[in-house]
Amino acid sequence: MLMKKVSLRRLVKAGSAWAIGLSLGLSLAACGGGSTTAGQSVTSATTTTIPSPSPPPSAVATVTTIDVNALANYAAPTLPAYYDGSVRALDNLPAGSSITDRGATLGRVLFYDKQLSINGAVSCASCHRQAFGFDDAVRFSTGFAGTAFTTAHAMRLGNIRYWQPGTMFWDRRAASVEAQASQPIIHPVEMGWDTAAGGMSALISRLQGLAYYQELFTLAFGSATITEARIQDALAQFERSMISSSSRWDTAYTQVFNANGPNRNLNVTLSGFTAQEDRGRQLFMTGQGGSGAGCAACHVPPTFVLASGSRSNGLDAGERTLFKSPSLKNVGLSKAFMHDGRFSTLADVVEHYNSGVQDGPALDNRLRGPSGAPQRLGLSAADKAALVSFMLTLNDTTFVNDPRFSNPFR
Ligand code: HEC
Ligand code: HEC
Repeated sequence: MLMKKVSLRRLVKAGSAWAIGLSLGLSLAACGGGSTTAGQSVTSATTTTIPSPSPPPSAVATVTTIDVNALANYAAPTLPAYYDGSVRALDNLPAGSSITDRGATLGRVLFYDKQLSINGAVSCASCHRQAFGFDDAVRFSTGFAGTAFTTAHAMRLGNIRYWQPGTMFWDRRAASVEAQASQPIIHPVEMGWDTAAGGMSALISRLQGLAYYQELFTLAFGSATITEARIQDALAQFERSMISSSSRWDTAYTQVFNANGPNRNLNVTLSGFTAQEDRGRQLFMTGQGGSGAGCAACHVPPTFVLASGSRSNGLDAGERTLFKSPSLKNVGLSKAFMHDGRFSTLADVVEHYNSGVQDGPALDNRLRGPSGAPQRLGLSAADKAALVSFMLTLNDTTFVNDPRFSNPFR
């Protein structure tokens, strides 16, 4: 930062026209659009200079496909009408925080940057792959060393902002999206900046030496200073902008919702669905009392994020840990299911709810039958297949191909 100021002043004195552009750009970014005294004096001091032929080299433009003068829209995405007050009430964006195009753009670069791992081998996106709804395609992910694996299955990231408690990881151990962002970085298996490797401050030193981060942190925060809080903030902005609202279910539900106005009746026949998908929808949405399978009570439409008050789903007898589920949007793109990736097909998942739920202190009462024992749904083979086909309608090809969430590196 200090070096930059000195060289800037030298350039201005030398009268180079592209120094004007650079200094104006920096002053704009520094104050979020207004002008500063420093910026004005630079402008007036350089009115008589000779234009130089080439623009300043931008490190961001050199290493990424991002055009900082035409940023993608993260701050104000167009959402379906049913993303109304009842959905916004679930938003875990902390009070006083916001999502800006600049902040989320920095977050996107950080998310895809292998420099975030100690040996340059993995980025966040190595385990959270857009094509799989930001899940990994294997049961356990490979860490930076290529030899060690995570002990939990990776999680899809769509709609994490609508998990109202904001707690992250399967066992909810990270307090917020922001707090979570440091954990893979300092993890001894995932990205390798553990205490022995110098921790977060060693990573910050590395990033401070990369010219594109000088530009991007200035763009996002008004100065090139890199701190853990800024890294967390930028990554969280990018992740919270990952809203999945364009699945086939969404397309069909939009029509019904518009027709019904504000009446959120989720249990209606949808056009464009096959009979099997529609039977699955009915089972998913209807409570067990109404001879459904009761799934929507916990995996709540339209975001399909877990309901805030949910407890665990009885994978193991005697379970005490309260697990959460990622949104079921794009669940059909995952290759392993549940916190330990124990199931490899959605049919296995449905069979768990049909016949496998185990009792334990963490089991949610919604998964108990009238006697208080774990539920046994007794679904027919056709109904089990219908539930699987319904879940496949939650795949969102727009989301997994959205260039705003893609790898920006050249
Ligand atoms: C080596 C693979 C790997 C890397 C690299 C990785 N993750 Fe993850 N991620 C996982 C696994 C595995 C989990 C689930 C871990 C758990 O719950 O114990 C997870 C969980 C998460 C969650 C929790 C989602 C939820 O709904 O609770 C978020 C958010 C997340 N990762 C973001 C990131 C970010 C940001 C980065 C980069 C800074 C990153 N991950 C790097 C494997 C990885
Ligand atoms: C009591 C709340 C509850 C109900 C009811 C419920 N689930 Fe779940 N579901 C969960 C929890 C909690 C998890 C995560 C469990 C874990 O990994 O430890 C989960 C996980 C899943 C997953 C795996 C997600 C992933 O990313 O791996 C699928 C798929 C799923 N549920 C589908 C269903 C279906 C279908 C039904 C209805 C038959 C249903 N759920 C009913 C709470 C519930």
